Amino acid sequence: MKLEDRTVLITGASQGIGAATARIFAAHHPLRLALLARSEDRLQALAKELNTRPGVQALALVADVASEQAVQNAIQQAERAFGTVDILINNAGVGMRSPVGEIDNVLARQLFDVNYWGSINCIEAILPAMKAKRGGLIINISSIVGRRAMPNAGIYCGSKFALNALSEAMRLELRAHNIRVVSFYPGVTKTEMGRNELTGDVSQRRGNRIRKTPVDVVGKAIVRAAQREPRDAYATWFDRFFVLTATLAPSLMDWMLARSYSTE
Ligand SMILES: NC(=O)c1ccc[n+]([C@@H]2O[C@H](COP(=O)([O-])OP(=O)(O)OC[C@H]3O[C@@H](n4cnc5c(N)ncnc54)[C@H](OP(=O)(O)O)[C@@H]3O)[C@@H](O)[C@H]2O)c1
Repeated sequence: MKLEDRTVLITGASQGIGAATARIFAAHHPLRLALLARSEDRLQALAKELNTRPGVQALALVADVASEQAVQNAIQQAERAFGTVDILINNAGVGMRSPVGEIDNVLARQLFDVNYWGSINCIEAILPAMKAKRGGLIINISSIVGRRAMPNAGIYCGSKFALNALSEAMRLELRAHNIRVVSFYPGVTKTEMGRNELTGDVSQRRGNRIRKTPVDVVGKAIVRAAQREPRDAYATWFDRFFVLTATLAPSLMDWMLARSYSTE
């Protein structure tokens, strides 16, 4: 999709991948950016920064994606300010690590409320206007571990597998309405996500030794996916290779993951 003169709504825009993606989108002005998350101060600071860029209008939308009503209100606010949203980026998400047998059901449901139902809430709120306009683009931010689950992260991975299923179904359903759906799979990225996890002490884990992709690289790849509208998109060749290996050689991947996650 041509990005200039569009309205883009990014959830989870107060930090990390969402904020980086907003900054990169801002290069494609004129552009209207609706930035949604719960942290008002961070959102207002980012909106202020982006509003200084020529041709960019940015609006902070304070909402919890887990609340259907709050999302409806926020999207109505965006539509009143900017008109129909052309591009929705479902990026808000939280992590959680718990081995099976130690899963806190309340937190696990909270995670699904954000990662899975939060995306559904945004899609449902935005679709009527996109359908009426007969066009739009929805990018669902999944994860490479939404294609191949990792030890101690079954709940988080499950939420991303569920999101992929939704993307696959809606991609075909929405084709007749000229609304495209991209599944984007980041790998390990340098953000505060580990600190924001619902449970777990991440400092001791071996997985943390993996080289993390800079957040700008991921943001650029998301903006490129918005331009090119592929079915599936990745930020790096390593991420693509990881998913390919997991698909073609699942037992080899079991062996590699078991080795790197064993406690010794
Ligand atoms: N970092 C990685 O290694 C990695 C890898 C693969 C996939 N991903 C995915 O990429 C996305 C972004 O992750 P990130 O690394 O940028 O994480 P992050 O730095 O922790 O940022 C998460 C964003 O989501 C927002 N958010 C969380 N809960 C929310 C809620 N209930 N309602 C509205 N907004 C909410 C947060 O804002 P507030 O706290 O202000 O609400 C924040 O802006 C997530 O979907 C994540 O699963 C990340």
